[in-house]
Amino acid sequence: MKLFANCVYPGEEAEIMKKGAIAIAIVMAFVAAMLVGSAVAQTTKSGKVDDILVIKDPGFKKLKKAPVTFPHKMHSVELKLKCTDCHHVYKDGKNTWKEGDKVQKCSACHKKKKGPGKLHNLMNAYHKNCITCHKKMKKGPRKCNQCHPKKKKK
Ligand code: HEC
Ligand code: HEC
Ligand code: HEC
Ligand code: HEC
Repeated sequence: MKLFANCVYPGEEAEIMKKGAIAIAIVMAFVAAMLVGSAVAQTTKSGKVDDILVIKDPGFKKLKKAPVTFPHKMHSVELKLKCTDCHHVYKDGKNTWKEGDKVQKCSACHKKKKGPGKLHNLMNAYHKNCITCHKKMKKGPRKCNQCHPKKKKK
């Protein structure tokens, strides 16, 4: 029994040092795993893409909301969705994009303002794509702050 938890009893110093070293090793392993994790990329026939993408579409210039974290690999591999559920190039109203073709940024075609014609603006393009499917499948985030985490107050 120890009377005073904060006191170092003779012979304990080495033990404390060892525990400290183990704790530091664990923390460093975590940091290393996180660094590796953030760089893990999925190789597809259409090029490389981060397993987990932080979408910060430059088409918005400035985001009002927090950027959205999108697990690309989970959607395209684990959920077995078709690439064409999200990627498209339309010709005469038909999606002609196929796996192996280059992937363009959504904002290459969908602009901040709607148009030309009925073409969705950039925000609606994302929302119509992401939220419509989540609603249809009754799975995946449908509420604003599930995709846009609340920004920390500064
Ligand atoms: C659920 C939607 C979804 C599915 C399914 C999907 N993707 Fe994506 N993909 C995205 C989004 C969103 C981006 C980011 C687009 C952006 O930054 O404008 C992206 C980005 C990419 C990129 C990176 C483009 C770049 O230049 O950074 C590649 C490559 C890619 N996807 C390939 C594929 C392939 C191949 C498949 C099918 C095996 C697939 N994707 C399935 C939504 C999807
Ligand atoms: C090469 C240009 C181009 C790119 C890149 C593009 N779009 Fe589109 N998108 C279009 C066009 C054109 C239409 C209109 C199609 C039609 O005639 O209905 C459209 C329609 C849509 C629609 C409504 C119809 C549908 O297919 O569901 C959504 C939602 C959409 N885009 C989301 C996205 C998202 C999200 C991305 C990025 C992952 C993206 N688009 C990338 C050109 C593009
Ligand atoms: C074609 C259908 C489809 C599209 C398009 C789609 N998702 Fe999903 N998403 C799903 C399904 C299904 C799940 C639920 C997975 C589960 O809970 O097992 C999901 C789950 C998620 C999750 C939760 C991940 C987790 O770890 O639980 C996020 C975040 C997400 N989607 C973001 C997005 C974003 C952002 C987009 C648009 C760029 C998008 N999704 C487009 C089908 C889709
Ligand atoms: C399924 C995920 C999802 C849900 C739910 C969702 N959004 Fe988004 N939203 C996105 C994605 C992806 C983008 C593209 C943002 C980016 O580049 O990070 C976006 C873009 C935006 C933008 C334009 C970019 C900006 O930050 O100025 C606004 C505003 C926005 N969303 C507001 C909302 C609001 C309000 C709700 C609730 C009614 C909502 N969103 C729900 C995924 C989602």
